[in-house]
Amino acid sequence: MELYEAINSRRDTRREFTGERIADDVLERLLSAAHCAPSVGMSQPWDFVLVRSPETLDAFAGHVADERETFAATLSGERAETFSRIKVEGIRESRLGIVVGYDPTRGGPNVLGRHAIADAGLYSTVCAIENLWLAATAEGVGVGWVSFYREEFLRELVGMPEHVRPVAWLCVGPVAGLPDVPDLERYGWRHRSPLASVLHEERYGG
Ligand SMILES: Cc1cc2nc3c(=O)[nH]c(=O)nc-3n(C[C@H](O)[C@H](O)[C@H](O)COP(=O)(O)O)c2cc1C
Repeated sequence: MELYEAINSRRDTRREFTGERIADDVLERLLSAAHCAPSVGMSQPWDFVLVRSPETLDAFAGHVADERETFAATLSGERAETFSRIKVEGIRESRLGIVVGYDPTRGGPNVLGRHAIADAGLYSTVCAIENLWLAATAEGVGVGWVSFYREEFLRELVGMPEHVRPVAWLCVGPVAGLPDVPDLERYGWRHRSPLASVLHEERYGG
């Protein structure tokens, strides 16, 4: 697949998982793509925990359902109605969760380029996620990013040490195809804005 084709067809996946197990060699390529992402000071501050146990998938899905309720309780009227139709995860259907962690101690005490911007480590971890997501798209594999969770819960669930921050739960699995339109657009939650609305010349607002 051409790079731009992968960029344009990448979709957050919730409903399209076939329930098949991802092939080991494909998974290896996705993780290798993630692991060659750029990182501040070459710190490579990411970790990937592969979760397949049905008990752990169930436990996480239960927690996410609770958090969905917490968010839903903040909505009313049309927003509440629209949100009620939106699926926010495919945890069980994908059969594989990849929990991505950020370890700020990776790379030692003097990470080159991070002295003024602590978040640069977190940015690096997110670059790894995008690499994995694009590689998955090229492989015909779906990825759904789930953020309806409390970090403490997920850290404990997968046994991450205190200093490692869980950044994402990614539902990863084979899909029959990917929709052309993001779910949030399809259900009328929010639409992609035009590029011109975020572009500035020389100075912000210009
Ligand atoms: C940091 C982050 C967190 C997200 N969390 C969720 C989530 O909890 N549940 C969900 O269904 N989608 C989640 N998404 C996916 C977005 O809803 C999706 O990227 C957006 O609607 C655009 O659709 P597309 O990715 O298909 O282009 C998340 C995406 C990002 C980048």
